[in-house]
Amino acid sequence: MKSYKIVVLPGDGIGPEVTKATFEVIGSVGKQFGFELKTEYHDIGGASIDRHGIPLTDDALSACKNAGAVFLGAVGGTKWDHLEGALRPESGLLALRKGLNVYANLRPVKIFPGLENYSPLKAELLEGVDLVVVRELTGGLYFGQPKGPGTTEAGLRNAVDTMVYDENEIKRITHKAFELARNRRGKLTSVDKANVLASSRLWRDVVNEVSAQYPDVELEHMLVDNCAMQLVRQPASFDVILTENMFGDILSDEAAMLTGSIGMLPSASVGDKGGLYEPVHGSAPDIAGKNLANPMAAILSGAMMLRNTLGEPEAANAIEQAVSAVIENGNRGADLAKPGEKALSTNELTEKVQLKLKDLAAKEPSFS
Ligand code: IPM
Ligand code: MG
Repeated sequence: MKSYKIVVLPGDGIGPEVTKATFEVIGSVGKQFGFELKTEYHDIGGASIDRHGIPLTDDALSACKNAGAVFLGAVGGTKWDHLEGALRPESGLLALRKGLNVYANLRPVKIFPGLENYSPLKAELLEGVDLVVVRELTGGLYFGQPKGPGTTEAGLRNAVDTMVYDENEIKRITHKAFELARNRRGKLTSVDKANVLASSRLWRDVVNEVSAQYPDVELEHMLVDNCAMQLVRQPASFDVILTENMFGDILSDEAAMLTGSIGMLPSASVGDKGGLYEPVHGSAPDIAGKNLANPMAAILSGAMMLRNTLGEPEAANAIEQAVSAVIENGNRGADLAKPGEKALSTNELTEKVQLKLKDLAAKEPSFS
């Protein structure tokens, strides 16, 4: 039997719950499609701070580097909010992304049948929405030096963050975005703030240079403030959105609401090898440990892992079909349920996905 070595980082808050759901589902499709996962669990974020004093140990990072793929639940929480800089839970995640060199973060946004009326946007605007945010993940404002708190000559507290990119960092993610667009609807929107930022002007120049190699893809440039507006005005006009780290962080949360809930949004972070898979949502400390989290974003991230890094596209399709069917049949987590609608627990939603997978396998001989 084929076997894949995966490092699992459940993390904080609802991370462990949605991670457990994901590996139950992957375990089932593995049996159907003839592979198994060899999983190794490590701490990250607050869980790692509590146990080892730092948000990511060398041990955990080197295990991740040696794995076929890495799956992460979520990091952070109020308990660790007083910590500064490199000691914050989020720093563990940033160090992991950097250490794995997964510079391209793909966040697909599509409307699941049945959720057309669950977005704060009018259903008519959502028709045809199917986009991917390609967020640069290992550079820009989150990593640039100098960074940190300081003092002015006059003795005032100040603080600095630096948005810096070199042309190679821009080039490699631009290629990823063009390749993706080429295999989708052939449109790429590069988002920047070139009317103000020097880093954005370099970004735009490099994207233009790379575009010469992709004459089949239509390229447009858009300022980030305008993009924030167009995402709610005409979201269906986007195919692939390519952007800097922080712009992508912000725009992907906004785009998540097109689907009705950030609890539906998976992500894949890839570079030249391996991959890191995590739901876009955070650790949601307010509902942690209560069996209330929507596991779909995590389960769908698991599907992306199977397709993109492990080369098990049929198993990935099966999971996505099952999730889609469960949603279409009216099952909602607490994040989506409207007043009067029953909200299913994490376990109930996971079980529904498992049952649907069995169902699909029974119907389709290719599933077994
Ligand atoms: C995300 C999250 C993280 C980020 C946080 C937890 C550091 O918001 O993955 O979007 O900013 O990248
Ligand atoms: Mg974010």
